[in-house]
Amino acid sequence: MAVQAGREHWGSRFGFLMAAIGSAVGLGNMWRFSYLAAENGGAAFVFLYILMIFVIGMPVLLAEMAIGRGAARGPIQALGFYGGRWWKSLGAVFVAAGFLIASYYSVIAGWTLRYTLEAIFLGFAEDPVQHFDSIASGWDALTWHLAFMAGSLWIVANGVTAGIERTAIVVMPLLFVVVCALSVYAWTLDGSAAGYVYYLSPRDYTEVFSREVLAEAAGQAFFSLSLGMGAMLTYASYLERNSNLPSQATIIAFSDFGIAFIAGLVVFPLLFALGLSEDVGASTVGALFITLPKAFLELGVAGRVVGTLFFGALVVGALTSLISLLEVVVASTVDLTSWDRRESTIRAGIAAAIFGAPAAMSLGALDAMDQVATNLLLMGGGLALAIFTGWVMRNPEGEVTAGAGRYRWFGLWVNLLKYVVPVVLAFIMIGSVPKTINAVLALFE
Ligand code: PHE
Repeated sequence: MAVQAGREHWGSRFGFLMAAIGSAVGLGNMWRFSYLAAENGGAAFVFLYILMIFVIGMPVLLAEMAIGRGAARGPIQALGFYGGRWWKSLGAVFVAAGFLIASYYSVIAGWTLRYTLEAIFLGFAEDPVQHFDSIASGWDALTWHLAFMAGSLWIVANGVTAGIERTAIVVMPLLFVVVCALSVYAWTLDGSAAGYVYYLSPRDYTEVFSREVLAEAAGQAFFSLSLGMGAMLTYASYLERNSNLPSQATIIAFSDFGIAFIAGLVVFPLLFALGLSEDVGASTVGALFITLPKAFLELGVAGRVVGTLFFGALVVGALTSLISLLEVVVASTVDLTSWDRRESTIRAGIAAAIFGAPAAMSLGALDAMDQVATNLLLMGGGLALAIFTGWVMRNPEGEVTAGAGRYRWFGLWVNLLKYVVPVVLAFIMIGSVPKTINAVLALFE
């Protein structure tokens, strides 16, 4: 199969890295990570999360990149290229997962946009609980969801270099600076120390080894690295053959973990300094949107500035991630139909916007979509992809060698994909799938 004529390439290595880190860094790092850490015992969770990133996440990340670059196609065609017709269906599952995640991700992204603009123009609401309840679901949420989706689609329609890469090059360094500055600010607050203790010192080691915490940590590692649905595969499909995949995978994984970790250094000290530690334990989907505004409100003018920056950073993170989700769907639509990029973007985008409507109308629906996407589709996708790379692809090491040279640890990588990743993911999925199915069934009761 010849490389598709006229297929775009990233303008630079830096541009690719910013786009890929942009995909990885998003609501997952700030919203999902901090509430899961709070829910699952702070440091215990952080420890397992790090472990999962390196043992499960990085091998799968490198596999996605090798397949994407090698085939220079979207997921459906790429898996067909290496595995034959039947494996195309795994690619189709990837695209479906991207579509599903994009549809509800945009709802949460819409909240962040609204919060940022409110912080600038109105200040934070006096009663954050009531405020969140009133905006999280319903026609308001739907409107902001549609607005966010439209903006993201516009960028994707402009193409890989002129749209995605250019956006990422501008906003990602900004995001990094803002999150670091916020962590320094949080450190200066009186009483922040208790936050660091909560975040970083394990209280109960038995928690570390529970299957639930392990499952949450693995799911989060996948979600946060944008794995298991072909986003990294698709981005890598625009790479040149001489790029060094292992080095780029390492930079992406460390940056992603780094930002999640630093975001925790903002959230926990801030909440503890302001005496909101009780709220931390009761953390749920709304955590970031209720508890943090409480803190910003108490900090007065400084809080308004800090809050604007915080939610602004979330908007940026969400935008660059949503773009990558949409790109998976768009790239595959371009591969498989006669529509050009613009047409594909519009059609796929309208469909995703409509599909996200239930998530905008009900928090239960949003949560169920998130669980199905992460626990079933991403983990299942990662499991299948590990098996594919380890057992079906003829020469996965060869795909990595181009641009990187040959290293002895490539063998270790393949063995991780063959044996370790599938076993760990299967073990986790057996535990979490029933729970996920129940969450979905509960919606219909
Ligand atoms: N990694 C993104 C985040 O952490 C979410 C995402 C998941 C993006 C899967 C693309 C694919 O917010």
